[in-house]
Amino acid sequence: MDAHLMEFLGMLVRWLHVIAGVAWIGSSFYFIWLDNSLEAPAPDSENAQKGVSGELWAVHGGGFYNPQKYAVAPASLPEKLHWFKWEAYTTWLSGTALLVLVYWLHAQTMMVDATRADLTGWQAVGIGAASMVISWLVYDALCRSPLGKRDGALGALVFGLLGGLTWALCHWLGGRAAYIHVGTSIGTIMAANVFFIIIPGQKKMVEAMRVGQLPDPIYGKRGKQRSVHNNYFTLPVIFIMISNHYAATYGHAQNWAVLILISAAAVSIRHFFNRKHKGVYAWQFLGAGAVMLGVTAWWTGPYGPPPPMSATPVSFAQVQPIIAQRCTTCHMPTPTFPGIAQAPAGVLLNSSASIAQNAGRIYQQVAVTRIMPLGNVTQITEEERAMIARWFHDGAATN
Ligand code: HEC
Repeated sequence: MDAHLMEFLGMLVRWLHVIAGVAWIGSSFYFIWLDNSLEAPAPDSENAQKGVSGELWAVHGGGFYNPQKYAVAPASLPEKLHWFKWEAYTTWLSGTALLVLVYWLHAQTMMVDATRADLTGWQAVGIGAASMVISWLVYDALCRSPLGKRDGALGALVFGLLGGLTWALCHWLGGRAAYIHVGTSIGTIMAANVFFIIIPGQKKMVEAMRVGQLPDPIYGKRGKQRSVHNNYFTLPVIFIMISNHYAATYGHAQNWAVLILISAAAVSIRHFFNRKHKGVYAWQFLGAGAVMLGVTAWWTGPYGPPPPMSATPVSFAQVQPIIAQRCTTCHMPTPTFPGIAQAPAGVLLNSSASIAQNAGRIYQQVAVTRIMPLGNVTQITEEERAMIARWFHDGAATN
């Protein structure tokens, strides 16, 4: 397909994905907050007798709201019952479409990093797809196993296994693709929780009520457990979805450890908020999250003794041919690289003025995070990377 149309299609799908994701995560946050904020009605009150286990008052958008939660179910099935499921399904479907458009269809440039593992494009796609399916199967089996009754141990094990997946993917795929596939694996678990557990459980509860029976509380409990897991997954997943803008994270030599650290920080911060909804200010969780993010900022930064100046500074004449040969097929006004319609990220590298303007970013992408040239399709050499680094440290001369 025409590169421009492809990009436009990608834009529409991404837009939809973000909108659906906002709706899904928003309702997930809302219901977790709601659940944590409920207060039990007085034991002999009318509400308690109706079977209400908790309620609250809220004011929003100029009106007062009084949601109530029933311990198991109300005495009779209300005529109109709202479900929350299409937010989740739309997010997953549009996200997977985007994954195919951006990564799987361009696996050679977007997924393979020969310095990590010398794979074919198909192998990289296979690894990515398998990680999504296997993650769900293993996670679901663990939740159903006897361990599923021990929330803390289950949570720790799931975190550990996802850490293992992160480590493996970061060794097999380019950093950016590795991160996104950790994200799509967790996102698949989240959507599958809704599709295979939460919604079917709710259907069984509603079905039982329709035939005049009290629903089995196990469905409510099971659904609640998965929905709490989803709540803890949200912050790491959202970070991963925006991580492609931050090459210092996914381009780091130990990018797997960086992602695990950021995810641990995110879970810890989420935990602080979940406790806070219950009126408990467990500052240590917020503090731990902040410390972990601080450590990550320092660790991923280019801090250290600056390399000594070269005796004869690297000149522009030495660097320009490298950039012309390795970069401009993509980074020029009308790129010749197949599938690239405009200069990526708006970065032009076809004149000395634009190279001067982007010197810092060139250094960052070529020598620090090493993600450019993308997928190293133009086969830049180690000597050339070192040359660009020295040129930058020597003052980035452009004449
Ligand atoms: C195969 C095409 C291709 C080649 C070759 C290529 N790039 Fe890129 N470059 C991209 C794409 C695609 C992006 C946008 C990445 C994104 O969406 O985050 C990009 C982004 C960038 C950015 C902006 C990153 C940021 O967020 O600040 C810089 C700087 C850059 N490239 C420098 C280079 C340099 C220097 C070279 C040559 C050594 C090079 N690129 C070679 C495709 C390429």
